[in-house]
Amino acid sequence: MLNGPNLNMLGHRDPVYYGRLTLDKLNKLIRQKAQELNVDIKFYQTNHEGNLVTLIQRQRKYVDGILLNAGAYTHTSIAIRDAIELIKIPVVEVHLSDINAREPFRRVSLIHDVCIATFSGEKEQSYLKGLEFLVNKIRTENL
Ligand code: DQA
Repeated sequence: MLNGPNLNMLGHRDPVYYGRLTLDKLNKLIRQKAQELNVDIKFYQTNHEGNLVTLIQRQRKYVDGILLNAGAYTHTSIAIRDAIELIKIPVVEVHLSDINAREPFRRVSLIHDVCIATFSGEKEQSYLKGLEFLVNKIRTENL
């Protein structure tokens, strides 16, 4: 589970878009879901684009898939897009808010095409559904 910039500020961000959960509480819900699905999960959060790129590159050796909320980098980062394309393990894009129903720049996702699916606009459910989708995909398609 990789979370990008400002997701460490959950609980302080606009509840209309991001709900009231803190990142710790969100991670607890995701861990619970991972336990139900019988998979191990590791959590990282960084505000730095380069760190996200490095995490994506490094994790390819240790994990079967990545759940990614790249935050604002979603809309701007060719470096993150390239990293996802290069690692050849499945990445699911998630967003708490509905990026298609907000400011025009948020509708652009540079990473959309290189991710196997996108879950957006369902607050913590975006993450939980995204994780379930990723695990099923890995299991059924032997990725
Ligand atoms: C976000 C949506 C992005 O547009 C925004 O920059 C974020 C969070 C979301 O989870 O809704 O930081 O990825």
